[in-house]
Amino acid sequence: MKVTVVGSGYVGLVTGACFAEMGNDVYCVDIDEKKIENLKKGILPIYEPGLEEIVKRNFSGGRLHFTNDIKEGLDDSLFMFIAVGTPPDEDGSADLQHVLAVARDIGKKMEKYVIIVNKSTVPVGTADRVREAVRDELTKRGRGELEFDVVSNPEFLKEGAAIDDFMRPDRIIVGTDNVRTGELIKELYAPFVRNGHPVFIMGVRSAELTKYAANAMLATRISFMNELSRLCEISGADIESIRQGIGSDTRIGMPFLYAGLGYGGSCFPKDVKALIQTSKEFGLEARVLMAVEDINHEQRIRFAEKIRQHFSGDVKGKTFAVWGLSFKPQTDDMREAPAIDIIDDLRKSGAKFRAHDPVAMEVAKSIIGEKNVEYMTNYYDALEGADALLLLTEWNQFRRPDYDRMKSLLKRPLIFDGRNQYDPAKMKELGFTYYCIGRP
Ligand SMILES: NC(=O)c1ccc[n+]([C@@H]2O[C@H](COP(=O)([O-])OP(=O)(O)OC[C@H]3O[C@@H](n4cnc5c(N)ncnc54)[C@H](O)[C@@H]3O)[C@@H](O)[C@H]2O)c1
Repeated sequence: MKVTVVGSGYVGLVTGACFAEMGNDVYCVDIDEKKIENLKKGILPIYEPGLEEIVKRNFSGGRLHFTNDIKEGLDDSLFMFIAVGTPPDEDGSADLQHVLAVARDIGKKMEKYVIIVNKSTVPVGTADRVREAVRDELTKRGRGELEFDVVSNPEFLKEGAAIDDFMRPDRIIVGTDNVRTGELIKELYAPFVRNGHPVFIMGVRSAELTKYAANAMLATRISFMNELSRLCEISGADIESIRQGIGSDTRIGMPFLYAGLGYGGSCFPKDVKALIQTSKEFGLEARVLMAVEDINHEQRIRFAEKIRQHFSGDVKGKTFAVWGLSFKPQTDDMREAPAIDIIDDLRKSGAKFRAHDPVAMEVAKSIIGEKNVEYMTNYYDALEGADALLLLTEWNQFRRPDYDRMKSLLKRPLIFDGRNQYDPAKMKELGFTYYCIGRP
């Protein structure tokens, strides 16, 4: 089948590459000229395990094309996927300018029937706005007779496991009122659901809201555990035991129950905010989600406070080794990463940092900057002469470190673990002063 994907970021590039891998002919479009130029040379704009090989294989196999010109894809494709960013606006609502710009572009240039499939995360009612934008442009051109469909197909992939999630999704959500269009999308996705996982065809508005509901539920689980972790710290209970105790209940389940520094990334923070805002627009107050957001923000501040308190309120001139900068392991995505707030907070009080991340250091440099932050290529080097280690992202290599080496490099055996990676009893036995989240 012929497919165009507009937007070649985390979602667009994975979508395009995976459709091409299944034998489809795919155009990946982006307005960023440098990004397209690099993609043609096999240089990817993001780190995502497994993506590079798929992109290279399908590009050299002639199934994957990269272009800045949407027209190339439009002339050839039945499906026009929109996978551009929907960052938070000033009031927290989703900024639809990129989605609507693509819609207008399609309206300006289409010459035949297309199915516009919106994969960006957008508030309920956006499909209507996309339809209007396309229709307006067609009318301006005197081509109002051209037919098109607008479908919602939200994406549920996780960065760091995006290929696997896209290739073997738990479910596909398709929002459309047109039976024939629904069947065509089902056919496009058939190779991805050979495992029997469902394709749910539903109303467009339900599909749009399903995406927010999923992210808001997962964010709520994280904030719920973080709230409980505070009670654990005061009462002497252990949040890890509680996680196992409730997670083994099949009605609850294990995933997304980790207490830590809270959620970050490009999706949960903005989607929780956007859902609060959408509720407001419909005259409702999303009180659970407002609390979820507050708890998430406080979690970072409390961690910085814990560090400050250890040093009797004064971290001026102290140097901290930082392990992990990205918002979670297996990605270089720094958007809304806890590391940004924690480093910023302590830096304002005069602290310095020796930071390491396996893949996110270049991106981190552009966000956190280099003022009082030295970026170290080796994570043990980051420990040398530091007053403490701050573990901020749970990359695998940090899980079983050489504790003796750590002790010999650090100025004092002191660890602030924001991700509960080590056993408190063992750390005590090894002679570390060990702070973690919600455990005695
Ligand atoms: N990143 C994730 O894990 C994830 C998961 C599920 C859903 N989503 C949603 O998918 C959407 C895309 O997210 P992302 O993380 O891939 O964003 P991204 O910022 O990584 O990529 C967006 C791309 O769109 C391009 N673009 C912007 N305007 C354009 C235009 N008019 N024409 C062509 N290209 C244009 C940008 O240059 C950029 O390369 C968002 O709505 C997001 O909420 C993201």
